[in-house]
Amino acid sequence: MCGIVGYIGDKNPTEVIMAGLHRLEYRGYDSAGVAVVNDQGLDCVKSLGKLKVMDALLAERPITGALGIGHTRWATHGVPSEDNSHPHFDMDKEIAVVHNGIIENYQALRASLEADGITFRSQTDTETIAHLVRKYYAGDLFKAVQRALQDVEGAYAIGVICKDNPDVMIAARHGSPLIVGMGEDEAFIGSDVPAIMKYTRDVYYIDNGQVCEIKRGQVRIEDLDGNPVTLEMTHVDWDDAAAEKEGFPHFMLKEINQQPEVIRNTLRGRVEEGSDEVRLPEMNISVDELKACQKITIVACGTAWHAGMVGKYLIEKFAKVPVELDLASEYRYRNPIVPPNTIMIPVSQSGETADTLEAIRIAKSLGAKVASIVNAVGSSVARESHGIIYQQAGPEIGVASTKAYTSQVTAFSLFTIWLAESRGVMDKAQAKQMIAHLRAIPDKIQTILDNQDVIKRLAATPKYRDAQSALYLGRSFNFPSALEGALKLKEISYIHAEGYAAGEMKHGPIALVTDELPVVCIATQGDTYEKMVSNIQEIKARDGLVISVATEGDKHILAHSEDIIYIPECYEPYSPILVAVPLQLFSYYVAVNRGCDVDQPRNLAKSVTVE
Ligand code: AGP
Repeated sequence: MCGIVGYIGDKNPTEVIMAGLHRLEYRGYDSAGVAVVNDQGLDCVKSLGKLKVMDALLAERPITGALGIGHTRWATHGVPSEDNSHPHFDMDKEIAVVHNGIIENYQALRASLEADGITFRSQTDTETIAHLVRKYYAGDLFKAVQRALQDVEGAYAIGVICKDNPDVMIAARHGSPLIVGMGEDEAFIGSDVPAIMKYTRDVYYIDNGQVCEIKRGQVRIEDLDGNPVTLEMTHVDWDDAAAEKEGFPHFMLKEINQQPEVIRNTLRGRVEEGSDEVRLPEMNISVDELKACQKITIVACGTAWHAGMVGKYLIEKFAKVPVELDLASEYRYRNPIVPPNTIMIPVSQSGETADTLEAIRIAKSLGAKVASIVNAVGSSVARESHGIIYQQAGPEIGVASTKAYTSQVTAFSLFTIWLAESRGVMDKAQAKQMIAHLRAIPDKIQTILDNQDVIKRLAATPKYRDAQSALYLGRSFNFPSALEGALKLKEISYIHAEGYAAGEMKHGPIALVTDELPVVCIATQGDTYEKMVSNIQEIKARDGLVISVATEGDKHILAHSEDIIYIPECYEPYSPILVAVPLQLFSYYVAVNRGCDVDQPRNLAKSVTVE
């Protein structure tokens, strides 16, 4: 999954592109490159490694021109190397291409092009596009790209420029995100809004199969067959600062601290003060469909799947609808049964996760109604769903998902109330009470954030900071919290961590307990509290290092814990939203103490747009 940026206008394209690539670096950072069209033709600088390497190279050898394209890469085909870094060119270096996605038939295309005498410089799938465009180029770059893409199968968002055409940039997408930004006598392309938000907030979300001819201040869009397309412009109202760190050392810490406001934003427009009713019109599901629903299938990956598990517990407890929860990567290959009146709820922050997208397509083909919980406006998941709950969480730049998770759980909480009321299994009084509990969450999160120094100190102690492994245990609504806490620790601190249902300890994991094993036990007040205390006692009896997450004022649990993290009293079904915050902070500070690259952990990308 990579990031692309392009610019045409009076500014220095290299400066605009590099600023945009820095905003997209979370999408991949194996290598990067920029190409511009100027009097000398096509000029290019590219490098292995993160963008700071490019910054240094460009400081030594600046390039500029009338327009340009740039790319930051997360390798899919071809190891990270300078030759494999984008932009890629045809043999005569007349055409330059940047690409995010996977060309699935690139081997066949490459074989055919090589049979025509073309020699390749790289092992990438992308280079085939550059040679194909050159093959069909007869002076009209737009038509050449349109024709070339008819030979291509797979996912792409591309930017294409040509050395003898300084007035036009071509962009196209199929399966990977792409936007076109419009300015006064200038225009931009990008994989994501933060890349160009510094310059324009007026964007077009390009759809699959669309090709754009972009000139200064204007864009013409057609499909691959040459049929004109008209898109509606979207004005993006994210604050520019939202894509900056606002003084925090890392995006992740900034986003953790944003969560009180994020939860308010997720609730915004859906529930009012004192209201006993949830409004989710954009889900595009009628009350009759909700009443007729016999089964809900939740599909997602990673953290989003953990949010889906909380969603399952909420929906079954309050709306009394059976819920099947599936990893999207499993759902797509297991020949799922989709009975009539099934509603699928995909969950995806980026809205571009390949497995989740494919699961949507399968479910739709089998007749399911698809209503997604998604953060990225205009993303593929959003556009391929019948209905949406936008998380309204703003851009999440840190690779480790934090505010997106709590926002997703909040969205499930809203959906549950709406579903239960629609089905007549929740009365107005209960709905009003649950909405009040939800609206109280942001201030409770703020209390945790205001006391995060306790967690910071814990994370600095060697017995946790230098641990080789960790266990996270929870029950009921906080079993998914244990899974999510473990994922946070492992993905940013590289300490192996496993989340487990606490009731499973006797079925194996308790064999791991030693005086060097931190065991995070989520023991907040709720139906399974006493069971959790028993688990904690079993672990302490074997000298395990118990870090308890407990409800403020709980003195009983102190005697059984090595350390304790208190959270405010909370309505149990919504406690996963609160519990997530100290676990995010603990993972963050452990990772920082271990000198890890918190925002861009090794081997990971923010959105997995390939299988
Ligand atoms: C979580 O911290 C990871 N970033 C990852 O598990 C992520 O949640 C998963 O890839 C799903 O991404 P999505 O929500 O954009 O679909």
